[in-house]
Amino acid sequence: MARSPNNIQAVRGMNDVLPDRTAPWQYLEQRLAMLAAAYGYREIRFPLVERTALFRRSIGEVTDIVEKEMYSFEDRNGESLTLRPEGTAGCVRACIEHGLLHQRQQRLWYLGPMFRHERPQKGRYRQFHQFGVEAFGLEGPDIDAELILMGARLWRELGLREIRLELNSLGSAAARAAYRAVLVEYLRDHEADLDEDSRRRLDSNPLRILDSKNPAMQSLIEAAPRLSDHLDPASADHFAGLCRHLDEAGVAYRVNPRLVRGLDYYSRTVFEWVTDRLGAQGTLCAGGRYDGLVAQLGGPQTPAIGFAIGLERLLGLMEVEAVAVPPRPLHAYLVALGERAALAAGPTAERLRDAVPGLRLQLHCGGGSFKSQFKRADRSGALVALVMGDEEAAAGRLGIKPLREEGEQVTLTRDEVAQRLRRLVAEDGIN
Ligand code: HAM
Repeated sequence: MARSPNNIQAVRGMNDVLPDRTAPWQYLEQRLAMLAAAYGYREIRFPLVERTALFRRSIGEVTDIVEKEMYSFEDRNGESLTLRPEGTAGCVRACIEHGLLHQRQQRLWYLGPMFRHERPQKGRYRQFHQFGVEAFGLEGPDIDAELILMGARLWRELGLREIRLELNSLGSAAARAAYRAVLVEYLRDHEADLDEDSRRRLDSNPLRILDSKNPAMQSLIEAAPRLSDHLDPASADHFAGLCRHLDEAGVAYRVNPRLVRGLDYYSRTVFEWVTDRLGAQGTLCAGGRYDGLVAQLGGPQTPAIGFAIGLERLLGLMEVEAVAVPPRPLHAYLVALGERAALAAGPTAERLRDAVPGLRLQLHCGGGSFKSQFKRADRSGALVALVMGDEEAAAGRLGIKPLREEGEQVTLTRDEVAQRLRRLVAEDGIN
């Protein structure tokens, strides 16, 4: 399509979801709300914008997100604010601010847009959506296992098969600091073999070097000292406990000693659900424990763990694996011909909506010939057309004609029509 320079387009990496594409979103959002409810999680909503300091202090100063991906700006009072790049920080902030964590456990979920100024490509956007779950006040590893089972249930219920689970433990902060020293010493000995990015990270965030995808670095990384050999005993026990829970539940997993995650708040358990079917952006869901974060942000010492699913990626995989999304067509389209019928059509539609809970009924507006109205009824995707002429209007009756299967038009009383529509609504079973 030709565009004049005056045409304003969407911001790069921020997508419209057009009406033809919203059905899978709605379906997924509904499944996710049901999943959370099935495990006793309650929804929490918090703002899209927070003070920049919140993300700096939680995600970490030297992470990619904080260093180069945040949408930060000064508001009119000169205060630095940031569009949320993830949900955990805002969720924790809200819980602390409203005293939700005093001597209490909380199992919470949220769903909504997040913003990161990354280089857009398939599966990676600047506005994307996460479904996140956070459990507070539980030390685990039973809760760690519950979160993983939630993911496994979702994949199973959606009929997705090509997803696998990777697990690791980052240990306590103290154990990680000790390991960091060992790792830096090893990497310094091989500094000449490090790429530029890794050299830069050597002082700031050496654990992230283990995450490098650069093929030239793989043998160096493979031979590096492993965090799992430096875990503190309590974290090692915790991790063994989680593995026992997963074995008992029959969940397959792979321990990946190089799984370190890109946010600083994690300790102990970290995990990712990944697929090979989506190219480079194959991480569908990621999370872990962050036992120190609540206290670090000024709240009471509270163990916590959570995960977030990237909805664009999950929808991408549902498409690749051809997951059928139940259609939600209109049940009925009401056409009216004649002056009296045109006036009566609106109130009739209202009465039908009153009488048939869950009914999706579109009223023809704008007049026109029967033929043109029927064409619209057909194009609307409705299962039946309801037909009203002046005669029917006077008699309180309606024609009903199937549009998606063979069948004659019959004229019935409004109650009989409502009865038939009730059957259609019951058959699609979505409500
Ligand atoms: P994260 O690994 O940064 O973790 O993001 C979680 C998921 O969000 C990713 O696995 C991916 O599916 C999706 N995602 C991230 N960035 C993008 C993007 N630019 N475009 C599309 N999808 C993306 C977190 O955000 C943590 N808050 C998760 C968590 C919750 N940990 C504990 N509780």
